[in-house]
Amino acid sequence: MGPPKAILLPAVVLTVIIAFVVVLQSFTPVDSSSFSILSSAAKDDVAKVDLKSSAHQEELAKRAHNATLGFGEIVYISMPERSDRQDAMTILATSFGIKIKHFPGVRGTEMSPKAMPDGVAKKTLPSEIGCWRAHANAWRYLLESDMDTLLIFEDDLDWNINLKQTMELLSLQMQNSKIRLSEPSDYERANAPYGLDWDVLDIGSCKDSGHPDFKDVYQMWDDPDVAGLDVIKKTRMIYESLQNFGLTDEDIGKKRLLSPAYRTVCTSAYAITRQGAERLLMAMSYIEFRNAVDTDMSRAFREGRVRGYMLTPPAISQFRIGGAKDTDNRKAGDPRLGTSINGQGNLHGFSTNLKDSARAQMVEKMQLNNWEDYKRVREERNSVVVISDDTSA
Ligand SMILES: *[C@@H]1O[C@H](CO)[C@@H](O)[C@H](O)[C@H]1NC(C)=O
Repeated sequence: MGPPKAILLPAVVLTVIIAFVVVLQSFTPVDSSSFSILSSAAKDDVAKVDLKSSAHQEELAKRAHNATLGFGEIVYISMPERSDRQDAMTILATSFGIKIKHFPGVRGTEMSPKAMPDGVAKKTLPSEIGCWRAHANAWRYLLESDMDTLLIFEDDLDWNINLKQTMELLSLQMQNSKIRLSEPSDYERANAPYGLDWDVLDIGSCKDSGHPDFKDVYQMWDDPDVAGLDVIKKTRMIYESLQNFGLTDEDIGKKRLLSPAYRTVCTSAYAITRQGAERLLMAMSYIEFRNAVDTDMSRAFREGRVRGYMLTPPAISQFRIGGAKDTDNRKAGDPRLGTSINGQGNLHGFSTNLKDSARAQMVEKMQLNNWEDYKRVREERNSVVVISDDTSA
């Protein structure tokens, strides 16, 4: 015998209503400015993070200090035979606390004619084709991974000893970018220290004068680690780039500037997003490749087919020792290489537009004077022994 119908009916109705409310709540969209960083297992006491808060942004910017500078991975392209440069890049990275992965360069002469892109200019060197191919392989590597971004280095770099702080400042600026075209998504706010609204983020360009019609589109901030005015003046290229944006000697040497990439030179150090890897492969492989990876990329920026940002002065520069070791892109006997193989040697190399060289710091850090250490410790221990003798006497 069940309960009387007079009770059963309202009870059923009530249960249905409660179930309906519960289901409805689980479909209510979350506040667009907050994002749960906890897994569903911890759903009950979910800590809602305010993605627009400065506390969250500062936390995200700290990823610039991680082993891959806040990017998915860092690869560096180096011809298989340049073990000298690979050794140098490896100790530079480990002494600096970052993780880089060797990505083999390609010999243009070994490429099948069938694999050649359309549009290659007659004067293009096989080494330039090989260089382009290695970069294109890196773009593809990102697409074949699960990462959002990849930082691509060449194998002859130097950077400022406070690179991580520079990247942290850049992250804070990019999270509050005034030059991006769309609002950041919640995914970007939660996960991407530099946003994901770009194809290419060039942090190692030798020059960029900016689009003549968009000289007012830039973001500028103080960076205590930017190279001083005198250092920047030494190489006209960056100095003139900054002047092009209307900067005067008052600001040059104090400020860092982020602008849409337009007429870039060099591909020493740049990051790509997945969308960037797709666009680069489209523009510079599927459609055509003409001259050299940096000039073709620059052309893609100018024609507006690839969206990039440019950091000026750059955070990363080329390291030069002079002589034939400085490039793998020129033909043997090119007069620009000089007659020397070794140039001035690693210990006398130089880089431009940097405040304090990480290469120089590395050399200093690894200096050891083993016998001086033994001498010092022996003297310390002797004096300890003498004192104990004295007190026992
Ligand atoms: C550094 O941070 C980025 C961005 O969150 C991340 O993708 C990358 O995996 C981190 N690197 C390491 C070594 O943890």
